[in-house]
Amino acid sequence: MKKRVLSCIQPTGHMHFGNYFGANKNWVDLQAEYECFYGVVDYHAMTMPYDVKKLRVNTWEMIFNLMAIGVKGENLFVQSLVPEHAELGWIFNNFAAMGRVENMTQFKDKSSDSKEKSSGFISVGLFDYPVLQAADILIYKADYVPVGEDQKQHLELTREIANRFNNQVGKEYFVLPETLLTKTPKIKSTADPSRKMSKSAGEKHYINVFADEARLLKQIRSAVTDTGETTEGQMSDGVANLFELLKAAGADEDHTSLMKDYEAGQLKYVDLKDAVGQALLGLNQGFVAAKAEILANKKDVKYQIKQSSERIRKVAQETVREVKELTGLLNVKF
Ligand code: TRP
Repeated sequence: MKKRVLSCIQPTGHMHFGNYFGANKNWVDLQAEYECFYGVVDYHAMTMPYDVKKLRVNTWEMIFNLMAIGVKGENLFVQSLVPEHAELGWIFNNFAAMGRVENMTQFKDKSSDSKEKSSGFISVGLFDYPVLQAADILIYKADYVPVGEDQKQHLELTREIANRFNNQVGKEYFVLPETLLTKTPKIKSTADPSRKMSKSAGEKHYINVFADEARLLKQIRSAVTDTGETTEGQMSDGVANLFELLKAAGADEDHTSLMKDYEAGQLKYVDLKDAVGQALLGLNQGFVAAKAEILANKKDVKYQIKQSSERIRKVAQETVREVKELTGLLNVKF
């Protein structure tokens, strides 16, 4: 039997090459080897102040984007279409130690962000976020969770919750999930290679995977290469980032030959940029075409995702039924 993989993403309504190479491409690749459950987590998106008019639109947009890059519709679900996540999350609140949840660095970061930037309002939902995340994972009894370093702490908490649950009910019911740490490239902003590629830093700092050709090429052409601060004999952050992009995009031959130029002290930045531009464009054109097709069949695609969510929900419902049985809650089938 295939091992199970689960991962989720918040509906941010956009996808850049940092997201793609850092996480979402990995989702696509894992589908060959594992039984995959991939969720767009709209309940999680409510934990920070948000625009109610945009949430649903962004949720669909993220679904379309994921499908356009190669995630199979049958593996995708929308979290709020599987409300058992929230139900199990509530149950897990009683198996999660307050002191441990208080220690989560993502909460500390996001709550201090929110103090600085917006209303200063911090919701209980933001605090409880990792407990809902534990429910996302355990409800499917996932073996592996592909996530970045920043989510390791949440995975550790998930295992603690599973452990406490198992101890209390006197049964090894939940599988303890493992983090699947695949080596994924950390892509930097081409406008400022000292920071990671991210939307929050502003327009210049991320390259949309669905960007139009002119914009994509312009962003690569204006990538920062040398700032003059690099020590002799060391590759600058900007050049290293361009090489990283080239490798990530699978342009191995260009990578090898341009690296030889670099080592011989003969690299022309314009050549490197051309190669990166073409490599990214090669991916981008396929994505743009796939997305256009999805948007042309929006209704069918939405129907397909409702169906896959319903099918995936059956797995979640079964878990919650068993959990109710084990924990002493009433377990009535209406
Ligand atoms: N917290 C994750 C992030 O910020 C998103 C997420 C929610 C998630 N639930 C999950 C990731 C379950 C993996 C598994 O990226």
